[in-house]
Amino acid sequence: MKLFLDTANVAQVAEISSWGVLDGVTTNPSLVLKEGKDFKKNVLEMCKLVPCVSAQVTATDAEGMIKQGREYARWHKHVVVKVPMTTEGLKAIKFFASKKIKTNTTLVFSAAQAMLAAKAGATIISPFIGRLDDQGDDGMNLIADIMEIWQQHDFKTEVLVASTRHPRHILDAARLGAHICTIPYDVFKKLPMHGLTDTGLKKFQEDWKKVSNQ
Ligand code: E4P
Repeated sequence: MKLFLDTANVAQVAEISSWGVLDGVTTNPSLVLKEGKDFKKNVLEMCKLVPCVSAQVTATDAEGMIKQGREYARWHKHVVVKVPMTTEGLKAIKFFASKKIKTNTTLVFSAAQAMLAAKAGATIISPFIGRLDDQGDDGMNLIADIMEIWQQHDFKTEVLVASTRHPRHILDAARLGAHICTIPYDVFKKLPMHGLTDTGLKKFQEDWKKVSNQ
């Protein structure tokens, strides 16, 4: 499973990418707002660090999405155009697919939406599981449904588990066979940590000091 960082902060991308485990980045207008910097400049800097950076269109009509997305795609070959899951979005996705421009369909909350986006030719679809959990639904059930449907049919579209909130979400996504999981910075930082690793390493270091003093 590919691991993406859900951020628009270049320093965070540089830090996690230095671990050697980062496959891409997802941004959205709310994450971009937090950075308050030049969007294009940030996207280009992130494109130097990872092979896949989702940049979201803000137009709501297909024509506007296509205009914006074509411009983003010209910025760098690592840019994936993020398109919202609406009927206008589907038209834009179909167009981008015909031009071999990669897309990530965002704000997917049902298996029906997932199928439609895949049929339109989306490269990636992003079901948002945390937001479903937030309203009392079971987000991971949606991933299970989508992965079951994907097994029955020949969709090439990658399933990206988005809106993750904690490490368990990432493991469940992996167990269900999702292709990609995007992870907020604070959750990503928790993944390599384990108390037994820390105490184990401390003991090894103490014992090694004793060996050196023999
Ligand atoms: C995915 O591409 C989105 O940027 C993200 O996962 C949304 O997560 P949120 O529900 O925490 O805003």
